[in-house]
Amino acid sequence: MARFYVTTPIYYVNDAPHIGHAYTTVTADAVARWHRLLGDDVFFLTGTDEHGLKVARQAEVNGLTPKEQADSTSERFKEAWQLVDVAYDDFIRTTEPRHARAVQHLLQRIYDNGDIELGTYEGPYCVSCEAYYTEAELVDGCCPIHRRPVELFKEENYFFKLSRYEKPLLDWYASHPESIQPDMRRNEALGLVRQGLQDISITRTSIRWGVPVPWDDEHVFYVWYDALVNYCTAIGYGEDQARFDAWWPSVQHLIGKDIVRFHCVYWPAMLLAAGLEPPHRIHVHGYLLVGGEKMSKTSLNQIAPAELVNDLGTGAFGVDAFRHHFLHDTPFGPDGEFSHEGMVNRYNADLANNFGNLLSRVSTVVAKKCGGVGPSPQEGSPLEDVAARAYESAADAWRRVAPNEALDATWRLVRETNAYLEANEPWKAEPGPELDAVMGDALEALRIVALLATPAMPSACAEVWRRIGLDGSPTDQRLPDAARWGGYPGGSAVEKGEPLFPRKRD
Ligand code: MSP
Repeated sequence: MARFYVTTPIYYVNDAPHIGHAYTTVTADAVARWHRLLGDDVFFLTGTDEHGLKVARQAEVNGLTPKEQADSTSERFKEAWQLVDVAYDDFIRTTEPRHARAVQHLLQRIYDNGDIELGTYEGPYCVSCEAYYTEAELVDGCCPIHRRPVELFKEENYFFKLSRYEKPLLDWYASHPESIQPDMRRNEALGLVRQGLQDISITRTSIRWGVPVPWDDEHVFYVWYDALVNYCTAIGYGEDQARFDAWWPSVQHLIGKDIVRFHCVYWPAMLLAAGLEPPHRIHVHGYLLVGGEKMSKTSLNQIAPAELVNDLGTGAFGVDAFRHHFLHDTPFGPDGEFSHEGMVNRYNADLANNFGNLLSRVSTVVAKKCGGVGPSPQEGSPLEDVAARAYESAADAWRRVAPNEALDATWRLVRETNAYLEANEPWKAEPGPELDAVMGDALEALRIVALLATPAMPSACAEVWRRIGLDGSPTDQRLPDAARWGGYPGGSAVEKGEPLFPRKRD
């Protein structure tokens, strides 16, 4: 059985969950659901990043201890993921004892291998990034990402000898050309290494809110070097070797473009230094922009998932339409613009006018002209090839973590089925075998659409499944067999329910 281990970044607990976080997490969830449909052994990890100066300072602002701040915000992330139907297998918190043990184990190995040494660091530090910069990287004296003033830090630190890993990293990029997606991000990582790598400071003494360094209790690890290890902790690193060995080779990280340096340069180097394989795949996405700007606490332009899912004044879309919007509207890679108007347009086009309309046409005609019982599909139907192509393209796209392409392929089948109905006009036809054949085909196409769209819209697709009279739910099905033409049995009662996706006013 194939294994599929997928991760999201772990989110800082200084900030509440917003749709940028939801975008990555829902994508990981949908991809995990696709692999479950394939029958793969799936492990989907998300969680929260709870150490570091940024969290400690936010806690102070809120009059909380860092632990209290972490407890309440990580709970908010869990609630948000529950709201948007994210079915993770594990939610890791970096303040858990299992995580401290894994971090200490991994970094101790690097230390024992001689790749961590004591030194003094002095340089500009951005608290928002939790990272040091060189003078050359600053833009007008500010952090190149946050455009905010940096702070000058000087301290005695342990350094990871990253400079020794230029060649091993270049060799790894060369021998694993697909490991960083898309190519543009691979080139970015290559560029960073080719510019030359400096050793990086990985501990600090000025803060206690972190994982203690096992060989020197004056120090704690910098938040980033504790955070990255979460991907190993969750699969038993240092505690259950067999479990770790089973999952690690299949790991696929989903990350935003701002954390490429950490995931595509520092992390593979740390893994190599600890005698472990670098990640199988790193998929990098762009930002979700609102009014052309990245959502951020300082710009006050953050949108919480609940604002779009529930009715909080902006109009409720519900969970499935929420998930579908971000998966279908925003290609995984470039930046994407979010607007309420764009969301209404896509909802009306894809869900109300296409998918929802197909379901309501089919159930109305079956109720009126087939006695409410769904006929079986024809062998050699004109839709058979269309469905086979939709499956092939969707499967390929989900495998590449390209949900928008997978849904484009699925929606080609929706549109072709609507066109097939328009060409045959069953609403005008007399009851009989010809009409039954057309309706059987449309029901079979709907069954396949419900299957292919399940990773994006688990509840709505289960509802379509039920309404067209199928037993169980799409999640019990196994691909590719279940997507083959001819699976709709015929003879089941089809329910003519309320519109699944009522049209929204602009
Ligand atoms: N804690 C680190 C990650 C450690 S992973 C070992 C971190 N946390 S974060 O909460 O600031 O960001 C987490 C992820 O959310 C990043 O991948 C970031 O790109 C993503 N996003 C934050 N705002 C975003 C948008 N507006 N749009 C899309 N993704 C965004 O970095």
